[in-house]
Amino acid sequence: MDQHTNNKLEQRPRDTLFREQWFATQIFYWDHPTPVDMHHRSEYNHFTKWLFAKVNEMMESMGYHPNFEGFCDNMWANINKRYSHNRNHVHPGALWSGVYYIQAPKDSGRLWFTDPRGEAHTMVPHWDNKKTRDRDFWREVYYEPVPGRLILFPGWLTHEVEPNLNEEFDKEDSRGWRYSLSFNFVQRYKPGKEPVKQPKGHNSGGGVFADELENTDE
Ligand SMILES: [Fe+2]
Repeated sequence: MDQHTNNKLEQRPRDTLFREQWFATQIFYWDHPTPVDMHHRSEYNHFTKWLFAKVNEMMESMGYHPNFEGFCDNMWANINKRYSHNRNHVHPGALWSGVYYIQAPKDSGRLWFTDPRGEAHTMVPHWDNKKTRDRDFWREVYYEPVPGRLILFPGWLTHEVEPNLNEEFDKEDSRGWRYSLSFNFVQRYKPGKEPVKQPKGHNSGGGVFADELENTDE
């Protein structure tokens, strides 16, 4: 099979059902190997190094070019008190976005993703609800927040965080709050791997920077 076609040269048996999956959306997650005590630390290098390793592990598993590595564009902390939530949004400019849960009490709000294929929402079939629906056909998926868990998802993938409905603690009791870190990653050239000439653009003959035009003739 070629990269962008489904042309197959081999003979396939006739009158046989084939099912192929295309345009998959990846969501990765890891559980941090050590106890979750970040909120007691005065510095974050321990976590950040682990995060970069996991992002680069993911990028390698995706087949990204080895001359590139993950570059953290930004990173911030979230404290979600009772009833606080994040409405659906994307992260413009981010290749990959992620969240790391530091503290996540019961019912403190799941991470919600929806099928990014807008066209797929325009027609809904009559499903047999007596059968378990194949997860490939789910229209939304929820991730429970788990302390110590890192989740990476494409920055373009619409997501939302449910309200923190933890009722176990008083609303001013921080044990009922959800603490998390969020971050955005793009790609950059690994040091020493920068090209002398910019790589070829999208059938345009190659990308160019404005300063490359300064000394050119009319
Ligand atoms: Fe987000």
